Amino acid sequence: VRRKTITAIRAMKGQQKIVSLTAYTTPMARMLDPHCDLLLVGDSLGMVLYGMETTVSVTLDMMIAHGRAVMRGAAQACVIVDMPFGSYQESKEQAYRNAVRILQETGCDGIKLEGGAEMAETIHFLSTRGVPVLAHVGLMPQMVNTSGGFRALGHSDEEATKIAADAAAVAQAGAFAVVIEGTVEPVAREISQSLAIPTIGIGASAACDGQVLVCDDMLGLFDAFKPRFVKRYAELGALVSQSAADYARDVREGSFPAEEHTFQPRRKPD
Ligand code: KIV
Ligand code: NA
Repeated sequence: VRRKTITAIRAMKGQQKIVSLTAYTTPMARMLDPHCDLLLVGDSLGMVLYGMETTVSVTLDMMIAHGRAVMRGAAQACVIVDMPFGSYQESKEQAYRNAVRILQETGCDGIKLEGGAEMAETIHFLSTRGVPVLAHVGLMPQMVNTSGGFRALGHSDEEATKIAADAAAVAQAGAFAVVIEGTVEPVAREISQSLAIPTIGIGASAACDGQVLVCDDMLGLFDAFKPRFVKRYAELGALVSQSAADYARDVREGSFPAEEHTFQPRRKPD
């Protein structure tokens, strides 16, 4: 099977919900791929895989390495790689140069970048020059140092108006879809109804055209905190801890390795 195209994702609007999860490694991408329309190599990997406190320290080289890993495991899902903090905000030329590195070095289908009206010019520059852009508005984790934390947005009229204007600006600029993060339902609904491109929500209600979750969150592998919008489909973290405890006990009491795990010299033929 060929992987889903950007055009196919865009055409799902009004037809079918878009199913997306993050993936950072080849084996996880292999397991998630059959079930997803879109795999996102999110810069959340800084927090989820590397123990960083925010995504601000994630580098382009890290995103490319993990993008390559996910591409090895993705057979049918469209693969989008996040542009990390500092790799696109300086100028549209800087954004283009780094986006091309991501496309060329990973083979992925497009990039995602955070930002609303202030990134519209860059999104237009990229998307008219062959770089598909997934936009990202609402809560923008890369802005944590200036916006003051991870909290849902759109409670005040001022916030609601800004998010709606940001979404309209990135759509107008040529984004093929837009992630809406951490945004109250009425605002997410209004944006989803008014834009011609699909909205993909995370903490932005069922009114969006699709959903994305951080896979380690939904699998119970990431325990630093659990936002309200996460639904846990498994408790793999607990399973890993229990497995390590069982192994440690077996080694210490001498019951592992057992006979079936042990090599013996071959008997010589008579
Ligand atoms: O980095 C990430 O995982 C993301 C998604 C949560 C949208 O940007
Ligand atoms: Na991200």
